[in-house]
Amino acid sequence: MNEQIDWSSLSFGYRKTDCNVRCTFENGKWGELRVSDSEEVTMHMAATCLHYGQAGFEGMKAFRGKDGKIRVFRMDENAKRLQSTCNGIMMAPLPDGLFEEAVKKAVKLNERWVPPYESGASLYIRPVLFGTGAQVGVHPADKYEFIVFVMPVGPYFKDGFKATPCCILRHYDRAAPYGTGRWKVGGNYAASLVPGTKAHEMGYSAVLYLDARSKKFIDEAGPANFFGIEGNKYVTPDSESILPSITNKSLMQIARDLGMEVEQRPMPEEELSKLDEAAMCGTAAVVAPIYKVDDLDENKTYQILPDTKPGPVCTKLYETLRAIQYGDLEDKHGWVYVFE
Ligand code: PLP
Ligand code: COI
Repeated sequence: MNEQIDWSSLSFGYRKTDCNVRCTFENGKWGELRVSDSEEVTMHMAATCLHYGQAGFEGMKAFRGKDGKIRVFRMDENAKRLQSTCNGIMMAPLPDGLFEEAVKKAVKLNERWVPPYESGASLYIRPVLFGTGAQVGVHPADKYEFIVFVMPVGPYFKDGFKATPCCILRHYDRAAPYGTGRWKVGGNYAASLVPGTKAHEMGYSAVLYLDARSKKFIDEAGPANFFGIEGNKYVTPDSESILPSITNKSLMQIARDLGMEVEQRPMPEEELSKLDEAAMCGTAAVVAPIYKVDDLDENKTYQILPDTKPGPVCTKLYETLRAIQYGDLEDKHGWVYVFE
């Protein structure tokens, strides 16, 4: 263990750990996994990731349980989503099993960076895959790098599990219908930087994006999906331009397990006025309740909660998800890989 770290006051950010795991695709095939202690990457100045945005990533977490064992949540789902990102922007997909092998190796080798159970912190795992081969014409690269690095993190939204305000900024879209929103590519996040920064400067924790086609339906937040609670119903947007969140998929199952009805369908913005509770959800965000949404261009406010105290359903969903991830509740859907 690293005595010098105050685990329970960690924020969400980069921190150097002992090593990372890498693999290179060249001459038509992926090579062997390598372990590196470098934080740097050297590549050709005409690499496609730099010019044409051939870069995708994943985000997942490892947790230390009360029993001291390390658990990784749903890495098979992240592996599938990275394949889908690779296919979406014509990067070389990884062979079966290589993603999981690299993640396990990176976690194992950095075991001492997995925060203790009591801290409520976790080890964030960031796999990234990008084109390093040179192209000046707009073509896919013939060379790729896959890297898995890890770091201990605390909550993504700095107040932890508290409700925050979000805003709608109608003059920005993060992804187009039939564009790249359904894949985890770097360019989607580049598109969210200006609106996200504006929102933060105005005191909002995130932008809630509307669908780019009609501006009538809720899509998702910059770094997380969106869901609402209406009575005993969990409602979450269905849209071709949002990232299929593994946290959202898990919460839908947990909601069903708790006897709730689940609806995944287009959600008109006005439905915000009917919600008893609402939240953003994702690996980094976990469940981040929302107390109000301001539609700034329309001068409208949807007040969801009276203050920053999370509602009972979001609290239950949050606690159940965390209990499964830390090994405090039975993993009845087989979501957790336990290091023995
Ligand atoms: N939507 C966006 C745009 C994200 O960046 C993320 C984070 O990964 C999510 C949703 C949540 O996805 P997941 O729950 O798989 O982390
Ligand atoms: C995640 O939740 O893993 C994300 O990727 C969100 C954000 C940090 C980009």
